[in-house]
Amino acid sequence: MQNNDLYQEAVKAKEKSFSPYSKFRVGAALLTKSGSVYTGCNIENSSYSLTICAERTALFKAVSEGEKSFSKILIVSDANDFISPCGACRQVISDLASDIEIILTNVQGEMQSKKVDDLLPFAFGKANLLTNRE
Ligand code: THU
Repeated sequence: MQNNDLYQEAVKAKEKSFSPYSKFRVGAALLTKSGSVYTGCNIENSSYSLTICAERTALFKAVSEGEKSFSKILIVSDANDFISPCGACRQVISDLASDIEIILTNVQGEMQSKKVDDLLPFAFGKANLLTNRE
């Protein structure tokens, strides 16, 4: 799957955004290593902190269907600036898909490719948990 196809999938997902509070629509398209695509949009809540971002929606959909290996996630919004995952999504991406390519886009359709370590250096992860200590 080409990045332009993934872009179109993310745009379609963005149309489903439920964002009555921020009016900021976000879509994500996640490509698995086996070639499947899972999409997500942001879903807001009147209790604002319960909002989920597009990136986590896509990842949680995929993981809940048994997916474990991810190749790329492409993110779209209506903004002129490149849309970049929030801190919570960076942590979730780091935990579930540490070697994924993260493709940021702007409303002109330009793309920038990032690795997890670019966005979340010195990340906390499962290796840091006390239960892993001998
Ligand atoms: N949002 C995302 O879905 N992904 C991002 O990368 C940044 C922010 C959502 C959360 C909220 O619904 C709206 O955008 C404004 O923060």
